Amino acid sequence: MTEPSTARMIDYWLGGGDHLPVDVAAAQAFESAYGPCADIFRSLRAFSGRAVRHLVAAGADRFLVFGAGIPTRGNVHENAPGARVLYTDIDPHIVAAGAALVADLPGVGYVRGDATDLAGVDAGARAWILDGGPVGVVFLGLAAFLDDATLTRALDALYDAVPPASCLAFDFDTTELEAYPQALAMMGPGFHMRSPVHFADLLGRWSTTQDGIVPVALWRPEGEPEQVPDAFWGGVAVKPA
Ligand SMILES: C[S@@+](CC[C@H](N)C(=O)[O-])C[C@H]1O[C@@H](n2cnc3c(N)ncnc32)[C@H](O)[C@@H]1O
Repeated sequence: MTEPSTARMIDYWLGGGDHLPVDVAAAQAFESAYGPCADIFRSLRAFSGRAVRHLVAAGADRFLVFGAGIPTRGNVHENAPGARVLYTDIDPHIVAAGAALVADLPGVGYVRGDATDLAGVDAGARAWILDGGPVGVVFLGLAAFLDDATLTRALDALYDAVPPASCLAFDFDTTELEAYPQALAMMGPGFHMRSPVHFADLLGRWSTTQDGIVPVALWRPEGEPEQVPDAFWGGVAVKPA
């Protein structure tokens, strides 16, 4: 593999062992244009953990994860023990690496899936997660790669597909990166930053919880929130029962 992967770069920043020299080079180049990233991604992963545990408490015992990346370092199944978890990603290399990592875990699967084409996800795997009670949909680290129309369509299709009382954990990139033009250029032309008001519009029928859409470190913090740049906001939304 000669191309870096954002998922493996995140694994590098989280201190994992599932990345390649090409990912380390890309991560270090990005940091030279932006600044240190490890604390930001640790804070983001901590938000993911709090959100998933909240979804479990809200009744979700099955999880559908999009753009899942490398399923370690405090990922969904580690925060929802005993739940069914289906990780999906569009990148076949990431899917292969992820599937190997979860192969021996009961109730956890990893298949190829495009978040913008739910019908394209393996039908058996889809039914395994969607035919039952409330589902926790995890849509983290992904919105930046989808334009507004595509993201709205994807979230709308998910709303229709999940049972009532299902929840959605989401995050998005703020415009904070605009202050670092060199780093922004590294993200390429298909990278989308959004304001909270703008993102709220794209959620469509999904209703955010009372926590609202906030910097991820401030979403139900457990103890002192991490002091990190205001790069990612997020929250949880529900499909009413
Ligand atoms: C920045 S990583 C995020 C990984 C993980 N969710 C996290 O938050 O740490 C983005 C991942 O989204 C995947 N991805 C990009 N576009 C996608 C799409 N349309 N459907 C599913 N996955 C996608 C990429 O392959 C990559 O693994």
